[in-house]
Order: sequence, then C-alpha cells, then structure tokens
Amino acid sequence: MAKRERSLAGKVVVITGAAQGIGASTATALSRLGAKVVIGDLDQVLAEKTAAELGAEALPLDVTDTKGFTEFLDEVERRVGPIDVTDTKGFTEFLDEVERRVGPIDVLINNAGIMPLAPLEEEDDAATRRLLEINLHAVIHGTREAVKRMRPRGTGHIVNIASMAGKAGFPGAATYCATKHAVVGLSESVHLELHGTGVLVSCVMPAVVRTELASGLGEAKFFKSVQPEDVAQAIVDALRRPKFDVFVPASLDAMGRITRLLPRRLGEGLLRALGGDKILSSATHSSARAEYESRAARSAPAAEKGADS
Ligand SMILES: NC(=O)c1ccc[n+]([C@@H]2O[C@H](COP(=O)([O-])OP(=O)(O)OC[C@H]3O[C@@H](n4cnc5c(N)ncnc54)[C@H](O)[C@@H]3O)[C@@H](O)[C@H]2O)c1
Repeated sequence: MAKRERSLAGKVVVITGAAQGIGASTATALSRLGAKVVIGDLDQVLAEKTAAELGAEALPLDVTDTKGFTEFLDEVERRVGPIDVTDTKGFTEFLDEVERRVGPIDVLINNAGIMPLAPLEEEDDAATRRLLEINLHAVIHGTREAVKRMRPRGTGHIVNIASMAGKAGFPGAATYCATKHAVVGLSESVHLELHGTGVLVSCVMPAVVRTELASGLGEAKFFKSVQPEDVAQAIVDALRRPKFDVFVPASLDAMGRITRLLPRRLGEGLLRALGGDKILSSATHSSARAEYESRAARSAPAAEKGADS
C-alpha cells in the first residue's frame, strides 16, 4: 500500500537564506501548504519583504482593524530573523527564539550558501574561508542544533541544500565543490546516526538553478537549468514523502550513476563532450556576475569579524 503523505499544515519550518532564490521559493511553497515558515537571512530588508509577502498570503489582513493590523505585523515580525549563519552563537539563539515564539522546530532547511567563482589559484584565502564558513561550518552547526532539539522529541526533518557540485567536481568552483561534497558526506553520516530515531534527513542536489547566484551561467547539453520553484517543489515532495536523495531535475540521479560506472577518463571525456566542464568555468570572469560576486564577498560578516580580532 502507498505510504500516506505527511501533512505540512501547522509545521514550524525554519529556512536559512530564504530572503530570495531557492529559500524564498521554498518558503512560499510551504507557506501555501499551511506551514509556519520562519525566514532567517543576512539581508534583513529583503527578508522582511519576503516574509511580509508570505504573511499576507498566510494571514487575512484588514488594515482598518487596528488590533488585527498590529497582530499581523507581530506575526510578520516573528516570521523573519536577521541572522548571519556564520555567527554560530547568534544562529543558536535565533533557533531558541523561534522555538520560544513559534513552537518546536519540525523542519530545518540549511539553505544559505554562496558561490563565488574563480580558478583555485585566483581565489583569495578570505573567499575560501567565507565559503567554508557559510556553506559548510554553518550547515554542520545548524544540523547539530536541529539534531539536539529533534532527537529527544523523536521527530523532525533536516534538509540540507547541497548541489550537483556535491557529487562531481566542476572547474572554476573547486572550493564550492569541496563544501558541497562535504555537505553530502555530513548529511549521509547524520542520516545513518539518526536511523530509527524518528528524525529524518534529506540532501538536495540541484543542477544550475536560475537565481542571482547563477548569474552569467550558460546552458550545457543534458544539464538543463531549473527554476527555484522546481527545487521548492522537490523539497515539498521530500517532506511529504520522506527520502534522502533529492535530485533536481530527477534525471540527474541516473546521469550521475552512469557517469560513475565509467572509467574516470571516459567519464571526464563525456563531461567535456556535454559541456559540463564549462558550466561554471565559462562564467568565472563574466561581468554579469559582478553584482553577485560583490554580494557574496560581504556574506560572512561575523566570521570575518572573528578572523580580524
Ligand atoms: N542557484 C544554483 O544554481 C544552485 C544550484 C545548486 C545548489 N544551490 C544552493 O542552493 C542554496 C541557495 O542558493 P540560491 O541560488 O537561492 O542563492 P541566492 O544567492 O539567491 O540566495 C542565498 C541567500 O542566502 C543568504 N545568505 C548568504 N550568506 C548568508 C549568511 N551568512 N547568513 C544568512 N544568510 C545568508 C543571502 O542573503 C541570500 O538571501 C545555496 O546553498 C546554493 O549553494 C544553488
């Protein structure tokens, strides 16, 4: 008999880096299903805008009802938090605050991430550290915090956003690929640690997703890019019918398996023939990425403050 779908109505869902891109689309999709979504993002202004849009969808508002309007604003306020995931103490306090004000966290989606592009020899050490802090250290910290809270309750779901770059190497993004491979390894290990506890783990591996992070990236044969809404839908599906591996598009799974069966030289030849080796490297010096690269370089203020002191 087919397993019954889990309902997401009323579930407390925290998403890091959800002011825009994949996180924002996921927040919207989950909010539509009645989940109580809390957004944590470095970009407070954008996060508030996104949260207000969600609040407006989730809550009925009559601005002439002043009491109701105040309650609405309170509700919006408690659905958004300014966090820098590289500030581990602040990240923990944010999760504590969510549990105090909204309720026990049912789902944590570790989504915040950056992708500065450069050949390894051109990447400065500050960029390397930023990548490790946001894409890896913060995901380890968030996962550990979620396990501590969920394991005693015997329920919960941790969703880590890795990437296709967590399954294969791509020129132009060596450190990014290293962090995403590490997120896959982390998720697989914790998934095994949590076997039989009632706490679930999913690892999401999208291809190129059309968000600002992917500015300047072209299309490659057989590596068709997807929209943030496609990733959001795949996450919703994995929460309703739990599964560990979440490839977006789903065909990436088969392609990865086939490539791994081939001897390395043949696999690499296939990647080159399909243009996969150029997906990221062709955009490394693209002017279309200037704005994104500059934002990504300002994405770990807490970690950088720590490094200075
Ligand atoms: N876009 C793609 O092609 C793609 C593909 C595979 C995986 N991913 C992964 O998906 C996740 C989301 O990517 P996206 O494309 O939506 O990117 P995005 O740049 O559109 O959104 C990322 C969000 O994370 C926030 N953020 C960055 N640093 C932060 C910090 N220190 N603390 C809190 N928030 C922070 C940003 O403010 C932004 O709102 C990332 O982990 C990324 O690596 C993206």
